[in-house]
Amino acid sequence: MLRLQIGREVNQCNHFLRMSLMSRRNPEIEQRLWQQVTRRRPWHTEPEILVPTECTPFKESILFAEPTNFRVLELGSGWGEYAGAYLKDHPDHNYIAFEIKVDRILNTLRLVRRSGAHALRMIPVNLNWYFEQILPPAAFDLVIVNFPDPWPKRRHWKHRLIQSPFPDALGSLLRPGACLQVATDYGPYARRMLSIFRQHPRFKSLVQDPDYRRERFASAYSTKFERIQRAAGKRPYYMSWQYHP
Ligand SMILES: C[S@@+](CC[C@H](N)C(=O)[O-])C[C@H]1O[C@@H](n2cnc3c(N)ncnc32)[C@H](O)[C@@H]1O
Repeated sequence: MLRLQIGREVNQCNHFLRMSLMSRRNPEIEQRLWQQVTRRRPWHTEPEILVPTECTPFKESILFAEPTNFRVLELGSGWGEYAGAYLKDHPDHNYIAFEIKVDRILNTLRLVRRSGAHALRMIPVNLNWYFEQILPPAAFDLVIVNFPDPWPKRRHWKHRLIQSPFPDALGSLLRPGACLQVATDYGPYARRMLSIFRQHPRFKSLVQDPDYRRERFASAYSTKFERIQRAAGKRPYYMSWQYHP
């Protein structure tokens, strides 16, 4: 009976957080969850795709094709427009992107291959299942989070990427002085992010009071979700936080 229930749970991948929470308490579910993450799919043979084989950080030599160069991490990279544009301008930078939707991952590969950059790696793993466990500590210079799913309903807030445990997990992956750039179109989520990072002792805003602006940074790139929001009359919030360990 328990086995049947576990099977159903594992198949409902969209209920990732509930599973994640359960998995931390139940080794059998933890094992099924890990099987989901590591199961090889045909498109995993693309050379840029990295699928973890054990629940430890990827070796830096596997993640970073240019180990001494600047290292970017994008969380929820969508259709890959940001990665494509960034790597066109910085083809020698390392760029690690987390994304779970297959069509978006494959589109990203197409865009980035056109740019000629060779240091993109994509991790097709649900961030809420495995994140800092599979990335090396103190490794990244820049983290980009553009338009994370806002989960507006209160009962869904627990699914949000940016909530209180996130800055600590993220901080463990950052080099001193590394930056986090965040964009969101959803005011209540922006206010929540501001509150979380303002209170955090190791993140300092790089944007003058009130710690956000309503125009994209000059060094940043437009994405599909940004254009959709702007076309709907919204003015997104842009933040930039620097990590001081
Ligand atoms: C609203 S879209 C924004 C995409 C992109 N950053 C942009 O601005 O165009 C959020 C993206 O995050 C991805 N995503 C959401 N939750 C995720 C998770 N738990 N793990 C990995 N990717 C996730 C979604 O598949 C989606 O592509």
